[in-house]
Parts: sequence; structure tokens; C-alpha cells
Amino acid sequence: MINSLMVSALNEQVNAELWSGYLYLSMSYDMDNKGFSGIAHWFAVQAREEFEHASRIAKYITSRDAKVLLKPISEVRQEWNSPKDAFEDTLMHEKIVTGLIHNLMEKACELKDYETKNMLQWFINEQIEEEETPRQILHTLNMIGSNPAALLILDKELKGREDD
Ligand code: FEO
Repeated sequence: MINSLMVSALNEQVNAELWSGYLYLSMSYDMDNKGFSGIAHWFAVQAREEFEHASRIAKYITSRDAKVLLKPISEVRQEWNSPKDAFEDTLMHEKIVTGLIHNLMEKACELKDYETKNMLQWFINEQIEEEETPRQILHTLNMIGSNPAALLILDKELKGREDD
């Protein structure tokens, strides 16, 4: 049987993943307001990915015969100064999420919970990409600088992002 401390920590992560989705939805709407429809699309796909992460953990909790407890989702930031500001915030946020996943893994190790360790390994791997992608986009945005034509090309490119 899964330890109740582990269940409670996993439920907190469900909330953190939902909050991430909420954050990226907020970025998506803000970027749309600012005329960047491709970047808005990229963040909308990212939001769906976060809701999928939440669902993956919630399904695991249920599979261990434990209870998923959905808590209120805290308010998120509503506005960013520029696409660069939004992607900087994204990278900073993903680094925090990586830390949360590592904490969960440490708890699973402490509790000798091999099944949860196995489930969390997927998230450990996923976080590499979750940090790498915004970092790469930020490199591009730094090269673009204040060139509006180049920014519009990037916007068009990011419109091509598909759901995983
Ligand atoms: Fe669910 Fe972006 O980490």
C-alpha cells in the first residue's frame, strides 16, 4: 500500500502541474492580445501538456488505490512585457518544477516506494525537454533582439507546434 505521505506529496504535484497549465494559458491569452498568435498557440499547447502531466500523476494515485484530492488553483500572473519576458518566466518556472520532481523522487527513495520511483522517472526525463525548449527559444529571441521581422518569423514557426 502506498504511504499517505507519498500520496499527499503527489497530490501537491497534481496541483502544481494544473497551476503550470493555468500559467501557460495566461501567457497564451496575453501573447494573443499582443498580436503574437503563433507564440500564443505554442503556450496553449504547453498548457495542454501540463494538464496531461497532472492527469498522469492523478491516474497513478488512483491506480495505487489512493484518493486524488483536487485543491484550488492559485492565481497566476496575467501579463508579460514581451515574448522574451514570457519565455524567461517559462524557463524559471520549469527549473522550479524540476526541483519539485526531484523532491518527490527523494521522498519515494526515502520511503522505498519503488513503484512511485518508476513513475517519477518519466517526469525526470521530461523535465530535461521542459527546460531545453524554452532555453533554445530564448537563445533565438536573444539573437533576434529588436528585429520585428525576425520576431514575426519566429512567431510563425512556433505556430507549427503540435500536441505530443
Ligand atoms: Fe509539467 Fe512543464 O512540467
